[in-house]
Amino acid sequence: METKHVVVARVRDFPANTRRLVEVDGQEIGIFNVKGEYYALRSSCPHQGAPLCRGRVLGTNVSTKPYQMEYAHEGEIIKCPWHGWEFEISSGRSIFNPHKVRVRTYDVTVEPPEDEEEDPSIPMYPVTIEAGQVVVHVPVQRR
Ligand code: FES
Repeated sequence: METKHVVVARVRDFPANTRRLVEVDGQEIGIFNVKGEYYALRSSCPHQGAPLCRGRVLGTNVSTKPYQMEYAHEGEIIKCPWHGWEFEISSGRSIFNPHKVRVRTYDVTVEPPEDEEEDPSIPMYPVTIEAGQVVVHVPVQRR
């Protein structure tokens, strides 16, 4: 499948536990740095289409034993700003019905920077991750 490669930010400018929003072909996409890992979600809630990726990032309550709940997964859950449905950022799956309700996800990679021209007189050194750029890969929509 053909994809568009959209540069989101430099790694050094995109710290852990922050997000970026980009628009691709009229569709908002949220890219999240969750504890050093990058994930991308379509910013459209499957309930009624709210801008999901503008919601709060938090944790959720999980059942550890019968009648016992525990707050966990801090920074890994996005909560819809309209009615509060919660989704796991890494998979797009809803918390309440993970097998049936989910948000579209996109691949995210870290790639060497494109904007630095190669000069053969300059010795080459390995590029650090921090100098790289975060890129989201979005399938091209055929109309
Ligand atoms: S639109 Fe997201 S929970 Fe209703």
